[in-house]
This record gives sequence, C-alpha cells and structure tokens, in this order.
Amino acid sequence: MNHFTYRNGELCCEDVRIQEIAAQVGTPFYLYSSATLKRHFTAFESGFEGMAHQTCFAVKACSNLTILNTFAKLGGGADIVSGGELFRALKAGIDPKKVIYSGVGKTRKELREALAADILMFNVESPQELDRLNEVAAEMNSIARIAFRINPDVDPKTHAYISTGLAKNKFGIPVTEALQEYLRAKAMPNIEIVGVSCHIGSQLTQIEPFIEALRKVKGFIAKLEQAGIKIKYLDMGGGIGIPYDGEQPPHPIDYATAVRAELAGLDCTLILEPGRVLVGNAGVLVTEVQYTKANRGGDKEKHFIIVDAAMNDLARPSLYGAYHEILPVQEPAQDGAEQEADVVGPICETGDFLAKDRLMPSVRPGELLAVMSSGAYGFSMSSTYNSRPKVAEVLVSGERFQVIRQRENYDDLVRGEIISDLE
Ligand code: LLP
Repeated sequence: MNHFTYRNGELCCEDVRIQEIAAQVGTPFYLYSSATLKRHFTAFESGFEGMAHQTCFAVKACSNLTILNTFAKLGGGADIVSGGELFRALKAGIDPKKVIYSGVGKTRKELREALAADILMFNVESPQELDRLNEVAAEMNSIARIAFRINPDVDPKTHAYISTGLAKNKFGIPVTEALQEYLRAKAMPNIEIVGVSCHIGSQLTQIEPFIEALRKVKGFIAKLEQAGIKIKYLDMGGGIGIPYDGEQPPHPIDYATAVRAELAGLDCTLILEPGRVLVGNAGVLVTEVQYTKANRGGDKEKHFIIVDAAMNDLARPSLYGAYHEILPVQEPAQDGAEQEADVVGPICETGDFLAKDRLMPSVRPGELLAVMSSGAYGFSMSSTYNSRPKVAEVLVSGERFQVIRQRENYDDLVRGEIISDLE
C-alpha cells in the first residue's frame, strides 16, 4: 500500500498533484510520501509487538536526513556500513545506542568514530577486523560491543548481486569457524561479546530462506551457550522484498509471525535491519519526457522515449536489469493506444535505460512520468556520471510538500576540484 494514486486523472502523492511539485521544483526529482514511510514503519513494527526487539533501518537504502529523522521519531535505529552513514544517522537524531555497524571493510578511522559515538554494536565480519577493533578500542580506553556476522550458507533465491549469505559471498564468517573466533574474542580485554548477526540477501520473496538461516543461527547460539558465551542480541539483518513486477513477497506481518515462532523461548533481543520494505514503495522518481523517436532499419522498428532522468539517477535497471513500473503523471485514457518502447536517459551508453521493451501509452515531450518503487536504492545509489548534478528530493505530507535535498548545481559538481599548477 502506498500513497501515489490518480485523482481526477492526475497522479498525486497524498493530497498533492505531482504536476504542481514539478512546476515548482523542476525535473527530475525523487518524491517521497511521509504517510507511506510512517505506515510501513509502523506496520513492520507491529508484527514484533510485545517481543524484545529493535528495528534498525538500513541507511544505505535511502539516507536522506529527513527520512532517517522520520524513523528516529518512531523509535527506529540505524544499520550503518560507513563513517558517512554514522554521521548521517547521528545528525538525523538517531540514538547511537540504536546503531549497529555492518560491513566487511571498516577502516581504523571509522571504527574510532563509531566507538567514540558509543554505538550499540559492531557486526564483525573477519578475524582481522576483530583484532583491529580490539586494538583501536584499547587505544581509546574503551570496550567495543560486538556480534560476529555469521555466513549461514543459505540460498536467498534472489539476484546474484544482492545475495549475501552464501558461502561463496564475501560476507561474514563461516558458521563452522565462528565458534573459534568467539572464543578468541572472549579473551580480548577491549571486546565485549553481545550478539550474533546474519543477513542473507535483499529482495527476498520467500520466508523459508530467512527461517533456514535463523535455524542455523539458533543452533549456533546453543553452541555458544555450551561454551559459556551468552548472547543478548540476535540480529537477523534485512532483506524482505517488495512487489516491483507482480512479485508476492511475504507480508511483514507473516514474516514477523514466522520469525516469532522460530525464536520462541530464546532469551534474546531481536534486531532487524529492514531497508527496502520500509522505503521502496514510499518513493518515486519523477522525470520529464524530452523527445520521442523511432529508429528504423533494424529487424524491427524501435521506439524510444527519451527522458531527463538517467542511469546516474536510478541505477537499478541498468545494474540489475531491475523492473520499475512507469506511470504517466497525466492518467492515460483507458482505451488509448499503447506502443512498445524503451524509456531511456541522455547518458552516452546503451545501458542507460529505465525500462526496456515496455508497453507505454503514447506520450509527448513535456509530459511527466513517474518511475515507481524508487524509494529504496534510488537516490542513495545515484552518481554524477556525465556531469549530471544530483537531482532534488522532495517530501509530501498531506497537502504540503518540502524540498528535503536541494538539486545540485554546476558548482556542486566541481566542488573540491583544483586545476593543477604541476607541469
Ligand atoms: N543489512 C545489511 C547488512 C545489508 O547489507 C542490507 C542490504 C540490509 C540490511 C538491507 O537490506 P534490504 O532490507 O533493503 O533488502 N542495491 C541493491 C540492494 C543492495 C542491498 C545491500 N544490503 C538493489 O538496488 O536492489
């Protein structure tokens, strides 16, 4: 459920006409619905009501300060993977005691910053990271709370690029070697073991892989107990999918019910790291048609709708072949003509497309299109490739809207660059 609907023939976000926002802000822009964000967060949370848990939003999915602040106000924490994400989370008002730090490549500087902020825990992903963290904590006279990220070797049945819990992926420590690392950590003066974590992948459309992973983690927690190590937190990562193209991912409530059943009797606080499921359908990318054209001469006539957004603004179609529904902001006539077309951007690469061979209503230059379900891994993965300034981000709440990130300008593009005086 989201708050992007046609009203009187025009696509609206909550009570605001998208056309109206475009007239004031220009295109392209990312547009988020505050009501959808809140609704998704509360729906996700409600499944775990009465159970000790903490939801830590995966900042990488959508890292705008307003979005993070929206979740902070609802009690959300953050799952971070860099010093930059820590900076954002703290600036947005997220309680450091609700921040967990995942990722395989944490630098000394990043570890220091997170220790100084006194975050809830580090999800350690290698023996060398454990040694480094113990050293850095010792230098700072502090204690680092840790979980190891266990790689459970479970197939999440998702796109290969976003599957993370298989033995061949770079993430975590094999469950078979983890006990030895926990024992090593137990003997370290500046480390406090508090948890076990795992995250098996993203855009999962089935519950079973989550449960299979949990079962392995539970078995491992029992082993730890036998070794005299008691765990406070079980972090099961994120990963629930959303419908992009008719997929039927588990409803968060069904996911929660299955997780609760699996964890019954376990005396741990559950940590969840949802990203996409909270923000994916709360955001769209609005773009304006620049030109339409047909290229003849090949084995079939190809039609192109050339828009002002591109792969640098939304990388998912080019990068993963991902499907995003595209809706005209002016509702097309029910019986209007449709044509197969590629929706493409201005970037000089054939891989620059937002949709391929898509049945589209006929559109003219100047019309607006909304690329749906772009709230997750949309703006946060955007770049300035082809020297295209980053687009604006806008939030709607009820009848009002606000720019929550200014569109970048040409000066922003060259900020920090220097014309060298070296010969
Ligand atoms: N926790 C960890 C440790 C993660 O690595 C991720 C995502 C999440 C939580 C959140 O997963 P989610 O609930 O959003 O599935 N750029 C890709 C997705 C990459 C996911 C990376 N890790 C895409 O556009 O599909």
